[in-house]
Amino acid sequence: MTILDGKKVSNQIKEEIAVEVAQMQERGEKVPHLAAVLVGNDGASLTYVGSKVRSCKKIGFESTLIHLPEDTSEETLLKQVEDLNANPDIDGYIVQLPLPKHIDEQKVLMAVHPDKDVDGFHPTNFGKMALDMESFIPATPFGIMELLRRYNVETEGKHTVVIGRSHIVGRPISILMSQKGKAANATVTLTHSRTKDIKSLTLQADIIVSALGVPNFLKADMVKEGTVIIDVGITRVPDESRERGYYITGDVDFDTLKDKASYITPVPGGVGPMTIAMLLKNTLLARERHQKK
Ligand code: GUN
Repeated sequence: MTILDGKKVSNQIKEEIAVEVAQMQERGEKVPHLAAVLVGNDGASLTYVGSKVRSCKKIGFESTLIHLPEDTSEETLLKQVEDLNANPDIDGYIVQLPLPKHIDEQKVLMAVHPDKDVDGFHPTNFGKMALDMESFIPATPFGIMELLRRYNVETEGKHTVVIGRSHIVGRPISILMSQKGKAANATVTLTHSRTKDIKSLTLQADIIVSALGVPNFLKADMVKEGTVIIDVGITRVPDESRERGYYITGDVDFDTLKDKASYITPVPGGVGPMTIAMLLKNTLLARERHQKK
């Protein structure tokens, strides 16, 4: 069994980007600038956004964090989005999800200019991705594809079972892995909460991508020998014995599955760090594309 070490690969990617940024600086060019909008004080979102901003600093990007209070109106947030669209200094930005309940998430994501939408959540980018055109690919599925590519995991003709149909992970990874190309050309089954007898499908899978958010959902009796297992779940489980008051766990019962899998991603240290690296990659792409215009 091989561990798909997302932490190691994400560090490699960040180093590669840092080299490109240094070259941009040497040529006297503007370096990429990522902005993140965070509304409210959701603990996990604070952690993610903090980590994104720190990573920018490490690789030489400029970054801006716009932290708005929980009771920010939809109108104010939309105004902020308009300002970011109009600001030529910002190459790309994200609006961290989830947003507070009084804000229409779809309306906000629709307002982000597609050329700055480094999350790849705007319908223009999602549509282009589905048509295999130049776009921004959402960072988590992009990270999974990159991890598979860098470990040369064979996917062609393989049966991939995706668990979960979210717009951020399940749906896009099912599209990407069925397309032509490296880490793709797979036969994909997309399963979800209404799927009947999920175990009969996972038992047929050569590759499983679990993006459900249910700790220990995928167990050894659901998987055949030699399966590639990608765990996208990140759940905070309360635990008073830890300083932080919780621990992070994935969808996969790692201890019982690690001996059955051919490749497996750990949680933490698997898909999570890849997501940040690919957001940075998208921001670099945004800068390069803006430069060309
Ligand atoms: N919330 C959970 N994952 C993501 C992500 O990839 N991007 C944004 N903007 N919010 C998220």
